[in-house]
Amino acid sequence: MNAPDLFASAEIVAELRTEIIGRELMYLPEVDSTNTWIRELAETGAQEGTVAVADQQTAGRGRLGRRWESPAGVNLYCSVLLRPDIPVQQAPQLTFLSAVAVSDTLKELYGLQVEVKWPNDILVRGAKIAGLLNEMSAETERIHFVVLGLGINLNMNPDQFPAGISYPATSVALETGHAIDRRRFLKALLQRLDGCYLEFLEKGFGPIRRRWESLCSVMNQSVTVNQGQAREFAGTVVGLDPDGALRLQTPDGCIERILAGEVRVRTG
Ligand code: BTN
Repeated sequence: MNAPDLFASAEIVAELRTEIIGRELMYLPEVDSTNTWIRELAETGAQEGTVAVADQQTAGRGRLGRRWESPAGVNLYCSVLLRPDIPVQQAPQLTFLSAVAVSDTLKELYGLQVEVKWPNDILVRGAKIAGLLNEMSAETERIHFVVLGLGINLNMNPDQFPAGISYPATSVALETGHAIDRRRFLKALLQRLDGCYLEFLEKGFGPIRRRWESLCSVMNQSVTVNQGQAREFAGTVVGLDPDGALRLQTPDGCIERILAGEVRVRTG
C-alpha cells in the first residue's frame, strides 16, 4: 500500500470534527521520529493539538530506549502535542487516555477484542498491536507540553516484525484478514483522542480511569510483579491510582503501589 492512502493533510483536517486535536496536521514522508519532530515544534511555540504523521520513521523510538520498527507504507506513526494545565504528577494520566482512545478506535472500526497491559501496551489475543510513548517537558510545578506518541501496527506482515522481538506482536490486517486504510484509521483515532481529551479536561481522570480499568485484562486477577534484582510482589490488581501507579492488594490486605515492573498473571 502506498503513502497516498494516508495523506493529503489539508483534506484530513477539513474532514475532522475535532475541537483541539488535528486542527494543525503535518504529513512527513520520512522523519527520524515524529515525537522528536513534535517536541522541536513545541519548543518554538506550536499550538496545542498539532499532529505529525509519518509514512516511515528512520529512528522510531519505543519505551525503555528500545527501537520502534517503522517501515514505510504500512503502519501509523503519529505524535500529538498537548499543553494541559494539570499538575506534573498527573501527566501519566495522558498515557492511559491515549490507550483508551486507541483501544476504542480499534474496537469501533474493526470489532477487535482489545486489552490494555499496564502501563501502556495495547494487545489483541495476547500480542502487541500498538505502543505508546508519551514524553513531557516540565519544570517542578508546571508542564510546558506533553507529546503523545502513538505507533499502531496496521498492515505489518509477520516478516516485517523485527527479528528477536521479545514479545508476541500482531497487526490489524493480521487480525482482520484484510488491508487497513490508514487514513480512515487516522481520522477516527484523532476524533476519539479529541473526545477523550475534552472529557478529561472537563471531568478529570475518573471516566478515563474507569474505561482503562474495564479494558485491563489483569483487573481483579492474581498477579506477580517483577521489578528485577529479585524484587517480586504477589497480589490482586485492584485498580489505578491518579498518578498512574497500579494498585495491588497483597495477601496481608495492604495496598502496594506499583510504579514499574513486569506484571504477569499467576497460574496455579
Ligand atoms: C513502545 O511500546 O515501546 C512505544 C512505541 C511508540 C512508537 C511511536 S511511533 C510514533 C511515535 N514516534 C516515535 O518515535 N515513537 C512513537
